[in-house]
Amino acid sequence: MVNHAKAAFFDAQVDAPWAAMDYGEAERPKLERLLRESELGPGQRVLEPGCGTGRLTEVLAGVVGDGGLVLALDISPAMVKACARRVARWPQVRTLCTALEDLREPPDSFDRVICHQVFPHFDDQLAALRRMTGMLRPGGVLVVAHFINSHEINDTHRKAGTVVEGDLLPPPETMRRMVTEAGLVLEWQADDGLGYFLKARRLGDGCCLNDPSFGR
Ligand SMILES: C[S@@+](CC[C@H](N)C(=O)[O-])C[C@H]1O[C@@H](n2cnc3c(N)ncnc32)[C@H](O)[C@@H]1O
Repeated sequence: MVNHAKAAFFDAQVDAPWAAMDYGEAERPKLERLLRESELGPGQRVLEPGCGTGRLTEVLAGVVGDGGLVLALDISPAMVKACARRVARWPQVRTLCTALEDLREPPDSFDRVICHQVFPHFDDQLAALRRMTGMLRPGGVLVVAHFINSHEINDTHRKAGTVVEGDLLPPPETMRRMVTEAGLVLEWQADDGLGYFLKARRLGDGCCLNDPSFGR
């Protein structure tokens, strides 16, 4: 179910500064929030759809360590190639050229799913959320993160005038409804100077609303 028009669009972007440049000082507080609020730690198994050139992938690899796993995937062959090059020294990273919608990993495969700057590009966002929930273990966390806020995201995509012009981040109440329909519990959303951030948890075996990690 790869959207080939979008894959070609992102192939052509692989050397663009937004895609290729390492994170700088401006991104530091945004990255820190992402890592902190995602509750990332050593040994975790992380799914990262839409990995791009792997800027976040290498950071995730460092956090999960060699006892963890990062499965980084993307529909764009050029992006996957760039990502594989960037993370070559990290054995805990697997790269894959596929659409998230086509990924067939067993249930409970991941502790975290980190959608970094990719969620608006899913053609069927609810279906994508359901697929990610199915691969998340009970108690696991799904994150949707952007380093710009929803107004800036949607403005950028609308102005792109290309295959991504309709790829929008829905309003907060729609995001809440969709994550709930997908079987997750929304813990919080932020849309501020550090960008957009959503955190949702999969309930199930031994993980309930009385869990002390709830309440934000
Ligand atoms: C805006 S870029 C973000 C890349 C990277 N996460 C970053 O922040 O630098 C979005 C990426 O998602 C990929 N993508 C779009 N739709 C996808 C899908 N359905 N499954 C997997 N990857 C997808 C694109 O090819 C592109 O590389």
